[in-house]
Amino acid sequence: MTELSSIDSGLIPKLEEIGVFSVESLIVKGMNEVKALLPEVDEKKITRVFMEAWRKKGFWFMSAKEYEKTESEREVFTTGSKALDEILGGGIWTWNMAEFYGEQGIGKSQVLQTIASEAIVKGVSTVFIDTEGTCRASRIKEIITKRHIEGVKEPKVNLEEVQKKLTFIQTISTEILFEVIDRLPLTVETKNVKLICIDSLISPLRSEFHGREMLAERQFALARILQKLRTMARVYNLAVAFTNQVVAVPVQSYTGDMFSYKPTGGYVLGHVSEPRVWIRRGGGAKRIARVVDSSWLPERECVFMITDMGAVDVPSRREDKDVA
Ligand code: GTP
Ligand code: MG
Repeated sequence: MTELSSIDSGLIPKLEEIGVFSVESLIVKGMNEVKALLPEVDEKKITRVFMEAWRKKGFWFMSAKEYEKTESEREVFTTGSKALDEILGGGIWTWNMAEFYGEQGIGKSQVLQTIASEAIVKGVSTVFIDTEGTCRASRIKEIITKRHIEGVKEPKVNLEEVQKKLTFIQTISTEILFEVIDRLPLTVETKNVKLICIDSLISPLRSEFHGREMLAERQFALARILQKLRTMARVYNLAVAFTNQVVAVPVQSYTGDMFSYKPTGGYVLGHVSEPRVWIRRGGGAKRIARVVDSSWLPERECVFMITDMGAVDVPSRREDKDVA
């Protein structure tokens, strides 16, 4: 914090008390929240500190060349399926919040656990937030074993070492989820986290903020979480991948009433998730993934599979013959 000349020594302990311990965590906390939490501090003083912090970390006016340089620092992580990576423009990119949505049991949690498994195998420090209690450390171990240990020639992956790269958090209520999201910057900085997986982001909010009368409150809570995650993705150059459920929306057609499936979370979520990936059934273990509403990717589809190895490519005919 001392790298900011506009901060006086009296303000530092006050900021630390509200969980701000670095310039990055200050930006993630946000100017309005800091002003609200520290009403005794002159607002103009806080504004000055933020202006300096934004400028220092490159969130201010910059030349195209400077911007190009920060963009070149982005990283990409695999989904475990080459076909899926391809329609995502390479995989799960830092700066972005990739959303996987689809009906119950379609394989969203499997996809997320594969993304986390592949990342930690490559030494990427990862945080996995499970809000539904459906993800297992043992499943991640199994995915890594099936993909990188069983039947694989040396060098084999050291499971013990790889697992150290994973921080697992079970949030059994929205209260815990909010606190965890607020405290994430500390973990992100100490462990150099580059990937945050959340399975699922909305379901705890949907069950606790129930019904239409709580909709506005729910959307506000969601917007606050998303804002934090989005800022973290940018400030720390990390990727966020999360799952989302669908709601059936009745649509009228000439052939009778039908349903179309929409991701939950409304426009608040639709606005920040990038890319959105819709997963649906493709027969047997096959799944069809479709990129929906992306600002930089064409609306494309691919087929992949959910197996013991998590998300994988559909074997080509040649590989089928090799297996036979
Ligand atoms: P909800 O969280 O209920 O909305 O579902 P989801 O979309 O997260 O589904 P999930 O990722 O839990 O996937 C369930 C599907 O994955 C089922 O079709 C299972 O058959 C398959 N699956 C889960 N675990 C395994 C496994 O260990 N091996 C194999 N082969 N398939 C699995
Ligand atoms: Mg799930």
